Amino acid sequence: MKETSIRSTLEVYVCNFGKSCSKYGSPELADGLKKWAKEEYDGSIKVVRSGCLGQCDDAIAIACYPERKFLLGVRPEDVQEIKKGLLEALEKISSKA
Ligand code: FES
Repeated sequence: MKETSIRSTLEVYVCNFGKSCSKYGSPELADGLKKWAKEEYDGSIKVVRSGCLGQCDDAIAIACYPERKFLLGVRPEDVQEIKKGLLEALEKISSKA
């Protein structure tokens, strides 16, 4: 076994499960956020395509850590609002460090 530090400050899990979220376009949303995070904030924001987050009735579901917050009922057209919220969270966490 080996231990190492986690580089990311924020982790964002976008449900890509087929039961609900992927029907509303979560794979494309996750890929767009992932590309943005990597290009603009490499290392600080990590976006992951996840399995079911247990919030299927409110698809698309996104879980954000360390805030331990769900974004529910997300639609691909909400992407700018999501980015804005992530940047605000990043600034808030960074200002405490
Ligand atoms: S399918 Fe996305 S939360 Fe369950």
